[in-house]
Amino acid sequence: MFEKIIGRADKKVKDAGLDVAGVDGAFYIRFHRYLPALCTLCFKLYEEKAESLLHDITALLIQFWKDRPHQLKSRDEEKIGDLPWFTDNNLTGMSLYVDRFAGNLKGVQKKLGYFEELGVNLLHLMPLMACPEEQNDGGYAVSDYKLVNPALGTLKDLMDLQKKLIQKDMYLMLDVVINHTSDQHLWAQRAKAGEKYYQDFYYMYENREIPDRFELTMPQIFPHSAPGNFTWNEECYRWIMTVFNQYQWDLNYKNPNVLLAMLEIILFYGNLGVDILRIDAPAFVWKKIGTTCQNLEEAHWILQIMKAVTAIVTPGMALLGEAIVAPKDIMKYFGNGCFDECDVAYNATQMALQWDALATSDITIMRQSQREILEKPVGTTWINYTRCHDDIGLGYSDEAISSAGFTPFQHRDFIKKYYSGQYQGTPAKGLLFAENPLTNDARISGSLASLCGLERALQHNIGYEIKESLQKILLMQAHAFFYPGIPMIFYGDELGYQNDYSFENHPSMAEDNRWVHRPLLDWKKNDLRKSVGTPEHYIFSGFQKLIGIRKKLPCLTDKANIEILAVQSRQIIAFARYTENSYVIFGFNYSAQKHVVTLEVPSEKDSWRDVWTNDEFRQISNKMEMVFNPYQFRVLLTLG
Ligand code: GLC
Repeated sequence: MFEKIIGRADKKVKDAGLDVAGVDGAFYIRFHRYLPALCTLCFKLYEEKAESLLHDITALLIQFWKDRPHQLKSRDEEKIGDLPWFTDNNLTGMSLYVDRFAGNLKGVQKKLGYFEELGVNLLHLMPLMACPEEQNDGGYAVSDYKLVNPALGTLKDLMDLQKKLIQKDMYLMLDVVINHTSDQHLWAQRAKAGEKYYQDFYYMYENREIPDRFELTMPQIFPHSAPGNFTWNEECYRWIMTVFNQYQWDLNYKNPNVLLAMLEIILFYGNLGVDILRIDAPAFVWKKIGTTCQNLEEAHWILQIMKAVTAIVTPGMALLGEAIVAPKDIMKYFGNGCFDECDVAYNATQMALQWDALATSDITIMRQSQREILEKPVGTTWINYTRCHDDIGLGYSDEAISSAGFTPFQHRDFIKKYYSGQYQGTPAKGLLFAENPLTNDARISGSLASLCGLERALQHNIGYEIKESLQKILLMQAHAFFYPGIPMIFYGDELGYQNDYSFENHPSMAEDNRWVHRPLLDWKKNDLRKSVGTPEHYIFSGFQKLIGIRKKLPCLTDKANIEILAVQSRQIIAFARYTENSYVIFGFNYSAQKHVVTLEVPSEKDSWRDVWTNDEFRQISNKMEMVFNPYQFRVLLTLG
């Protein structure tokens, strides 16, 4: 069906001298492998405009492959193994804001020893491209995709850092914000000035007719701070689609020029040496009247095109789809069996379920949801985390809540009250984010330490509460370290940073309480990690030890090698991770009570050691009994 187009693309590649199969990084082979997918997807999306788009995409592929530095091409080849490199148990990541962590990019480079001390070898630098000083959504309102925010440094600083990371066998993750630009981006400015070419990059309407039809079915993302999905712009007298903040203009992917421009930006990041590209908010990229404008089939086609293009030119770069969506929707971001899509996705459901279990001391909903979460295809992986820069949404299904014996509405209400301090006696200190009085929805902001009770315990100086909150912090983090996927620490959590309420005094931040858990690091305080007896030391050394354990256990490489164990308890969840010759059990007590449980273990084994506490256990036939202290977790390896 596409013979002619494929023939023409092939000629272009041949003319560029890139037609030798198997050499030059096997570009030509990959090109032909993904070309049919590109053709199919472009025609499905763009029909009569597809042919010229494919022509332009081919030119991009040739240009960026020719420009791809040799060092990156060799690194691509090194990354090819039996298993995708990003499934490895050696990886541990940290997300951080360059300025809040260490001032600027040069500052981050000076801190590489700190990451090594902790065991972190993948850095997610939060959006660092140019954005307006005030209205920038933490960098997610980009005004220039190719210029590093001058407050953080230069492109050269970024490249220097990337080179140092390679030398140290570390990896780099950056964001690409594909759904929207800042209203200060050149495209937006030219659109405001009346240039039709750029007006077509956005959704712009002269009157409310179409916006009103969209609004009928579109939910609101920031109902409190940015109600509605359209914003009136005085400069061009048009309503502009702004799903997130009013200064973030949604790009219109119905226009193939938008896709082409974004592909060019993605390949630019690929050639900077990005190892994991975090695609921001992909669920939103396709809009259709009469739908929620989220998770539409066409959004997946766009991502599949992005995957095909990067698989050809930057095969060592994995794509992370930042889709924070319901469990049934998330799996689709890993591809549909025919076309590849994202390699990695956030395990937002598991993250929220851990917070659910911590508040209720009941793991039943988490256990009910495991089958669904673990259906992820082999060769893809999760980002596992307790906190990130965003809020915590209670993104698990009502069915799972009901089947655990709770009433969904009351249950969610309890969780929100528990974490926002409205529930009598709660140890947690957090804030409700994006409350919507119409739907009663809300999400939760707060740092790992504050939500686990450390802030309150330290304020009241109550010894046993401090101890308990520290145990909770390690329990939550240990679960994320040992679950299949890449653990991603949110900077500051490794030192127990608490909520910082100073955002309330900054006009540009005050309306967005996610800033409460985006700390400004104080490196004098960070030195407390070396003082035994401080919470900083307890948490930091705990994280260090957990990462060390993770790196020593090959069964933690994600090969879909997990078995959820049947434990007769509503408080303790346990799973095994295994290889052909190892079987390791992980158990987590989500309650403040001590419990004795019996685990079923493989009968040929004999004795076990918990490598976290050094406790030893003997099994009798295929059973092993053990105590779990409040909020204790165990990592059980067989002895001999
Ligand atoms: C993503 C980011 C979030 C941002 C939004 C809009 O969800 O994680 O911080 O507000 O996209 O770009």
